Amino acid sequence: MIRTIWWEDDGVHLLDQRALPGEEIYLVCRDYREVIEAISSLAVRGAPALGVAVALGIALGLKQAAGASGEEFQGRFEGLCREFARVRPTARNPFWAIERIRALAAEQAGVSAEEKTAALIRGAVALAEEDAANNRRLGEYGQTLIPPSAAILTYCNAGALATAGYGTALGIVRAAWAAGKGPEVYACETRPVLQGARLTAWELRKEGIPVTLITDNMAGSLLASGRINCVIVGADRIARNGDTANKIGTYTLAVLARENGVPFYVAAPLSTCDGAVGEGREIVIEERSGEEVTTFAGTRIAPAGVSVWNPAFDITPCRYISAIVTERGIIGPPYKEGIERQTNIKDR
Ligand code: MRU
Repeated sequence: MIRTIWWEDDGVHLLDQRALPGEEIYLVCRDYREVIEAISSLAVRGAPALGVAVALGIALGLKQAAGASGEEFQGRFEGLCREFARVRPTARNPFWAIERIRALAAEQAGVSAEEKTAALIRGAVALAEEDAANNRRLGEYGQTLIPPSAAILTYCNAGALATAGYGTALGIVRAAWAAGKGPEVYACETRPVLQGARLTAWELRKEGIPVTLITDNMAGSLLASGRINCVIVGADRIARNGDTANKIGTYTLAVLARENGVPFYVAAPLSTCDGAVGEGREIVIEERSGEEVTTFAGTRIAPAGVSVWNPAFDITPCRYISAIVTERGIIGPPYKEGIERQTNIKDR
């Protein structure tokens, strides 16, 4: 079993994804600022795993402030929520996790700071367990869409490494594998950070699920060849109408899938759905350092000083999406109705 991120008495433990596939290094963050650094440097990444990292990081920050009480404790709590909210703006799950932790803190009114901290640690741990369980349910629903011996094209890493366990897009692959359907996966390498080559290929090979790696610009030819049964990707944030933010390049795949008559599925827990966002163009897209583009495995591949545009995510309009799979089932178009039903959002 792949363990991505978890709590122990000495701090937040996580698998350092920057070192994969070469080395399996586990970090222990004993200071909440180390969790923030792990998030911003992509040691831990993927929307659901980010939600867990933020919840555990806030709990760690409160534990470090042992002795603070009353206003001081509250100030520390608010400061931690603000700091963690700033790190990766596109993924919905960190904000969802902060809302969950806030609600839990509000329920603890009147108890000592120490008891409150203990309750928030338990809450953060429960949130991680819930994410892994939701992914298993999502996988079960999703695998019903997969025919026997299917060739599945995926993008980035939406696997166990991107969640508290099992994965979303790769959770569907795992469930299809467990059901004896014998799927095989084509993984796009996913420039500039190579989550597909480094992480998806590593994760699937570890479990013996057949995986073939392609560079991103091979996806069009592969889809046109007729060898792919469906595309499955994860999501960073899903708007109320179904527009989906995911790793930069997802939109390209969705258009190519439509052009070639291949179903395009989005797999995500409901914690990725954002009821406050009506459509994709309202989603803030994180821009990352140009160095991710101008270097490859530590080697400069572009002239010094060249200007770079490096958005980490793009928006796939809902019209290109064949279905959205969550832990509550499969939603088909029009998505607004299904998302509202599953999330119990009422019109605001
Ligand atoms: O920049 P990353 O690696 O955090 O981006 C991750 C993705 O885009 C994933 O596809 C998404 O978070 C879904 S993970 C289940």
